[in-house]
Amino acid sequence: MSALDVYRITDELDDDMSEVLAARLEARGKHPVFLRMLEQYLDAMSIDSARLVLDMGCGTGVAARTLARRAGFAGRVVGVDRSPFLIAAADRLAREERLSTRVEFRTGDTHSLALADASFDAVVAHTLISHVEDPAAVLAEMRRLVRPGGMIGVFDGDYASITYAQDDLEQTKQDDEAIISAIVTNPRIMRMMPRMIGQAGLELIAAFPNVIAEVGRSDFFTASIASFRKVLPRSGAWSEEKANAWADDMLRASEQGRFFASTNFYAYVLRRV
Ligand SMILES: C[S@@+](CC[C@H](N)C(=O)[O-])C[C@H]1O[C@@H](n2cnc3c(N)ncnc32)[C@H](O)[C@@H]1O
Repeated sequence: MSALDVYRITDELDDDMSEVLAARLEARGKHPVFLRMLEQYLDAMSIDSARLVLDMGCGTGVAARTLARRAGFAGRVVGVDRSPFLIAAADRLAREERLSTRVEFRTGDTHSLALADASFDAVVAHTLISHVEDPAAVLAEMRRLVRPGGMIGVFDGDYASITYAQDDLEQTKQDDEAIISAIVTNPRIMRMMPRMIGQAGLELIAAFPNVIAEVGRSDFFTASIASFRKVLPRSGAWSEEKANAWADDMLRASEQGRFFASTNFYAYVLRRV
């Protein structure tokens, strides 16, 4: 069986697996380095002036809640995701943070949403585009939904750059490939985006390249490593035994100060022409 991206099929996952993804998204969303990358492109979008923002592929609502918490933002956010489980989690987390009057979540497929043309001042896709079947169609949907002159923020990993070092270089390469196939559908989409933007009727306003690299000890990557114990077997890439042995080796390397992992991330701020 060839491996599949679990984040692409979140509407087919059972509750246990959905909970693994929810925990990982929330851990990632709380990490200061990840939050800084989000705030960086929200600032560049002048998001505080938007009255209505769409968060496509919102998951548990990390970007939507971050936006609603911003001191200068007085608007509302609509989050859409294909997973009913993640949408229920997003609702609950927003209620717990008393943000329910500012954010609203609903299920939907971002290739084609039942929302009116030009109905949003801004659209955000925070690590969605690497997971969808047809990135060009999702980009076209973002353009359709934002008003003319409105801003779009597309943030994602250049996941082909993922690496978790091991003692053996060949094994590292093989396992990195397995991880990539299990967690993304389009591992090079952020490299392709500059060529797609103009064709989509959008203008590139700003680009923010970032690298998350941890040397010696794992911190940001720890939640991902924990999730891979379940995600890799569910995707069909590894047995549970292999996933646990890999994760144990990563945690041991971190305890011993020998850890190395790295991934490149990019944010593009686009304007509808
Ligand atoms: C890596 S998660 C990111 C979630 C959230 N934006 C965050 O940063 O925490 C990718 C999300 O995209 C959603 N997704 C993938 N394909 C989708 C599609 N075609 N339509 C709607 N949501 C989709 C998944 O359900 C998942 O919640």
